[in-house]
Amino acid sequence: MSDNKDTKRDDLDYETTGHSWDGIEEYNKPLPKWWLMVFYACIVWGVGYTIAYPAWPGVRSATAGLLGYSTRGAVAEEIAEQEAKLAPINEELASVELTAIAESPELNSYAQNAGAAVFRTWCAQCHGSGAAGAVGYPNLLDDDWLWGGSIEDIHFTVTHGIRNEDDPDARYSEMPAFGRDGLLDREQVSAVANYVMTLSGEEPQNAEVVSEGETLFMDNCSACHAEDGTGDRFQGAPNLTDAIWLYGGDYETIYETVYNARFGVMPNWNARLSEAEIRAVASYVHGLGGGEASEQ
Ligand code: HEC
Ligand code: HEC
Repeated sequence: MSDNKDTKRDDLDYETTGHSWDGIEEYNKPLPKWWLMVFYACIVWGVGYTIAYPAWPGVRSATAGLLGYSTRGAVAEEIAEQEAKLAPINEELASVELTAIAESPELNSYAQNAGAAVFRTWCAQCHGSGAAGAVGYPNLLDDDWLWGGSIEDIHFTVTHGIRNEDDPDARYSEMPAFGRDGLLDREQVSAVANYVMTLSGEEPQNAEVVSEGETLFMDNCSACHAEDGTGDRFQGAPNLTDAIWLYGGDYETIYETVYNARFGVMPNWNARLSEAEIRAVASYVHGLGGGEASEQ
């Protein structure tokens, strides 16, 4: 064994560490210089990085870093930059005549895009992402309007909201709870509900009480819903003849509406959105299909 070992030793220039186990020796092979330099440089860079940038977690927050960088700050800066870029067109949008928006191709296309984004964020949860509405939340795609479908009407509705307590200019009207407040008894509510069904050509549940219902309607309902049942936009009273229902047109739902009344509330968006955003979303809604021309 020892001969073998000697011959091998002579062939090599490597030093050994001097360790030997059962004749197996350990070479002393240092890492290449270039590798070590890179390794140490990485350590130095790493330490420097944790000093310059937010890094070490603390109890409440991480160390801030000498450069004062934060991802949140970077995003805020980008947003501010973007807003500064859009400031001129937003200013124009907020100050022109409402009807002029649709007439300017540039303003209109900006308003439609910005309005769609506002709608997705602020309106879709009630009116649906496609604006088709839901029970109690009107469809904004059709040409059936509670409060009016011109750009001015929509702008006013969105700005001040409906039946909210925060804006004194909110659209307001209140249908009495005819049953609950004892204005009509159950049979009378039933009669008038049957009459309402006939207004849109539905088969009434009980045809015998329809004529009594008609009299009750003229006395109690026509002031808001008009004698022919076509409604009144000044009071947000729905058209009852068009088979488009906010709450529902079956007997039970109409009975419930007349007995307890409804009180649909929409927030005033002037508290949350800028004038430019309100005008953008009003233009968007106006452009959905049911928009009406402005009165001259
Ligand atoms: C919290 C729910 C809610 C949100 C959010 C909401 N709305 Fe409404 N909106 C309503 C209700 C309820 C009505 C119907 C009130 C009534 O019965 O008169 C309504 C009515 C309207 C009307 C009147 C429709 C008509 O027929 O005259 C317009 C226009 C409208 N909303 C637009 C918007 C826009 C634009 C937004 C987003 C900026 C929005 N709404 C967000 C609940 C909401
Ligand atoms: C003071 C005005 C007023 C009077 C009077 C009134 N209504 Fe209404 N009515 C309204 C308003 C406003 C709404 C919409 C309520 C809402 O969205 O919160 C409404 C809604 C309704 C609806 C729901 C329509 C739908 O699309 O779902 C029915 C049905 C109705 N009224 C029937 C009647 C009947 C029947 C009477 C008489 C017994 C009557 N109303 C009297 C103002 C009135």
